[in-house]
Amino acid sequence: MAKNIFLSRLLPEAGMELLKQSEFNVDIHWDDDPLPPEVFRKRVRNVNGLICLLDDIINFELIDAAPQLEVISNTAVGFNNIDINYAKSKGIAVCNTPEILTQTTAELAWALLFAIARRIPESDTFMRNGKFTGWKPLLMLGGNIQGKTLGVIGAGRIGTAFALMSKGFNMRVLYSGKSNPVLDFELNAENVDLQILLRESDFVSLHVPFRDSNYHLIGKDELALMKQTAYLINTARGSVVDEMALITTLQEKRIAGAGLDVYEHEPALSPGLTELENVVLTPHTGSATIETRDTLAVMAVENCLNILRGKNCENRVV
Ligand code: GLV
Repeated sequence: MAKNIFLSRLLPEAGMELLKQSEFNVDIHWDDDPLPPEVFRKRVRNVNGLICLLDDIINFELIDAAPQLEVISNTAVGFNNIDINYAKSKGIAVCNTPEILTQTTAELAWALLFAIARRIPESDTFMRNGKFTGWKPLLMLGGNIQGKTLGVIGAGRIGTAFALMSKGFNMRVLYSGKSNPVLDFELNAENVDLQILLRESDFVSLHVPFRDSNYHLIGKDELALMKQTAYLINTARGSVVDEMALITTLQEKRIAGAGLDVYEHEPALSPGLTELENVVLTPHTGSATIETRDTLAVMAVENCLNILRGKNCENRVV
């Protein structure tokens, strides 16, 4: 009997085409919004392959609702939305989409860094509101990037790509976590404790995956270690930062600003965040370029097809 695949949301066309051309029965939730859990559970009842997105909660209840499930293919590199241990205990493969979004996400981290340090969104609003009455020596003063200290928390694939992009700016690079020979060699980077990194960096950028041990890795105490002139950039996962503590820190101007692409209670934003002038906010678009999202969709579909065809899949996380 032909196997069934459920695609939980619309993907870029390249991925949808590949899916439609496969030998499997395909059911698609033709929408841009996540399914309510009870509807989702019904849709996966006879499903062998599930292709989902990073905001689909694939917990034990969803997995139990799909007794024929063989593979969960996440259209993301992060997979904290999936109970991978439970999936593993049921013999279900879980796949992700690494590598292809590395540069794209690192580029967004830099875009946020520039945007907050040089006050780009604020300047744009200022211009649109007709407030530009002439060059002024004190207008929209920001912070230099050249020659400053860059702190990279989590020098994995994306953290490494992000750090390497600093090459043109003659920065001192600090990173925490496992030692990284590429950064040591290419940038003469220093592998330091988190506390030293927070104390000494002018820009702190987060690149750790979300797991329980990283919950609120940056909280009130950690923020208090940062320089008053420093900026925090988060393109990793929202729950790595205590969002309320960050808001208070920004309200009290105890750091210079933050550039955020991810949020603790996504898609909801904690109260007070949007009222702040010293933040730049993007809607979890780290991988959102046309090229990368196309490749991402194809990879997620291929991962699912490979597993259902009994082939090897190099993007299996369990
Ligand atoms: C994006 O956040 C991803 O994990 O791919």
